[in-house]
Amino acid sequence: MRNIFIYKDISELSRFLNDSDNVFVVIDSNLKHLHSHFEGCNMIEIPTSEQRKTLESVVEITGRLLESGADRGAFVLGVGGGITTDMAGFAASIYKRGVKFGFVPTTLLAQVDASIGGKNGVNFESYKNIVGTITQPQWVYICSEVLRTLHPKEFRAGVAEVLKTFILFDKEQYAAAVEYFSELEQYLASTGSYLKKGEFYKEELLLEIIGKCAEYKSAVVERDEFERGERRMLNLGHTFAHAIEKICGDTPDYGPIMHGEAVAIGMVLAAKLAACYYGISSDFAQQLERDLKSVGLPTAVPSDKNGRQMPLGMLVEALRMDKKVAGESIHFILPKRVGEVNDVLVPLKIVEEISCDLC
Ligand SMILES: NC(=O)c1ccc[n+]([C@@H]2O[C@H](COP(=O)([O-])OP(=O)(O)OC[C@H]3O[C@@H](n4cnc5c(N)ncnc54)[C@H](O)[C@@H]3O)[C@@H](O)[C@H]2O)c1
Ligand SMILES: [Zn+2]
Repeated sequence: MRNIFIYKDISELSRFLNDSDNVFVVIDSNLKHLHSHFEGCNMIEIPTSEQRKTLESVVEITGRLLESGADRGAFVLGVGGGITTDMAGFAASIYKRGVKFGFVPTTLLAQVDASIGGKNGVNFESYKNIVGTITQPQWVYICSEVLRTLHPKEFRAGVAEVLKTFILFDKEQYAAAVEYFSELEQYLASTGSYLKKGEFYKEELLLEIIGKCAEYKSAVVERDEFERGERRMLNLGHTFAHAIEKICGDTPDYGPIMHGEAVAIGMVLAAKLAACYYGISSDFAQQLERDLKSVGLPTAVPSDKNGRQMPLGMLVEALRMDKKVAGESIHFILPKRVGEVNDVLVPLKIVEEISCDLC
């Protein structure tokens, strides 16, 4: 795995920051407790939210780089979750026509997904990640220590992407990850925390899972950087997830929902769709539902305040707006079982016809 460094502690980072005068740390303003690890570096704090993941914020970062005297030899280091790494990577890739950059991802989702692969984008109007670049970071420093302050809800959102990756590539690792994360949830339920003596319960195991997952994503990106084929597989669960996120965003009655939660629901729907499409049993969809529940993730479309489930007609309408629609069909990544997943162009008519079986 090229340029992805995995450590338990954040202290090893100092080895990467020798030329600190030249390092411009773009850091999530919620992470003040991490500042001491960037002694001598130029600090640029940014507030993070999906609403602020905009071109204006990127312009602000480039302004701050200019003010701080960053020249063409500057190194930008994005420290935070996916919002920060996406914006820092984008700003670095356009500042003075591009300067080098790296990441210290601090959420599980950013460690296994957002910080790897070189996609650096921001939102524009109601479109997510629609403006940006594909430019690779020089290196990514991943450590489990920083995850200890993460809220369980944020942590679980990352678990959904971890399981997604293993469904695509690794049956054994999938089973091991489900076992670990369900144990972790049981530990949380009985003690009120993921931590035992200040570290994650079985932290070495968590680190191993993160490392394997990051390795799979990075290998796919090396083979298909510009998403012409294989990289599309990483969208498993995402077609339904984007539709659910859009509805929750537009209709406050159903929201809010986190991306990882929507991906978990989306994967179950994709597995159910696969069963209908191929005419096979729904055993895998049922197994997936059990597994996701055991790691604390939702598996059914959200309900409104009165307990009414999001209507499937609404979901199909939202699917029609997806950028993966081709005429009257839409690309779905359909999982038959762990390790057997296909990219299929499914006529929307079929999705409509079987939608009654989906929830
Ligand atoms: N570029 C890609 O390939 C790619 C892939 C997947 C997702 N993304 C993007 O990633 C974003 C989501 O990333 P995210 O889930 O990491 O969100 P995020 O960056 O908003 O972080 C989630 C929350 O956790 C807080 N936080 C971050 N690190 C923390 C820590 N160590 N301790 C305590 N709190 C911490 C943040 O302040 C924030 O409130 C989305 O905008 C999505 O589009 C990009
Ligand atoms: Zn995702």
